Amino acid sequence: MSQTRQDAPPAPVLAVDGPSGAGKGTITRLLARRLGWHLLDSGALYRVLALAANRERVSLDDIDALAALAQKVRVRFVSDEAGGERIYLDGEVVTDEVRTERAGDAASRIARFQEVRDALVDLQRSFARPPGMVADGRDMGTRIFTDATLKVFLTATAEERARRRHKQLKEKGIDVSLAALSRDIAERDARDAQRAVAPLVPADDARVLDSTDMSIPQVVDRIVDWLSERIEIPPVGQA
Ligand code: C5P
Repeated sequence: MSQTRQDAPPAPVLAVDGPSGAGKGTITRLLARRLGWHLLDSGALYRVLALAANRERVSLDDIDALAALAQKVRVRFVSDEAGGERIYLDGEVVTDEVRTERAGDAASRIARFQEVRDALVDLQRSFARPPGMVADGRDMGTRIFTDATLKVFLTATAEERARRRHKQLKEKGIDVSLAALSRDIAERDARDAQRAVAPLVPADDARVLDSTDMSIPQVVDRIVDWLSERIEIPPVGQA
């Protein structure tokens, strides 16, 4: 089941791709809130699948079993009061477990397999609903939403990304050394960029945004500006 062609999405899609730690999670959440659009955190789908595999004792190398599991798992995202999202796997809250570096690493291992990626295509496209959707991932613009209204490739230097991730984890009370984190990020980048299937590259028609020296509001504003060149969007507070 290879699905590279996309039927026209039923709603405008803003695709934001880029490497780990570029700030996609924060930026896409703010964009979705600013626009009043739905949000697809596609990395969370790979993370949840890796977690489900772990629980069901499915090896992270067993492609067929992983693809079958991808068809079976029930994943749900629910916004919480604090503006974050709660992630459910088969009815159980797994938000914290899914956000660990270990889950991210496992996700990137299973994301190498074409069959696993194919098994998640329809599920990802089903998130595109009116009035619009912001999609956070690695191949949103190159593969899942090839007709997206706007494609952004958000990046930052590896040092800056490690620093941001370190700060984020520290705020959550998770103690990881910056050096170890830099190493993990570099390894994950290499695996994501060099894999044969859906490697992490900007779409030909993506606009690349290097956020190394930009603040979060500056990044959000820039993307909203770009989007407003393509479609009419409501002013702040009226989304
Ligand atoms: O974005 P996040 O860190 O949650 O993604 C975890 C891993 O899932 C990435 O390192 C990448 O290997 C994989 N992924 C992917 N395609 C996506 C989203 C995530 O391959 N659209």
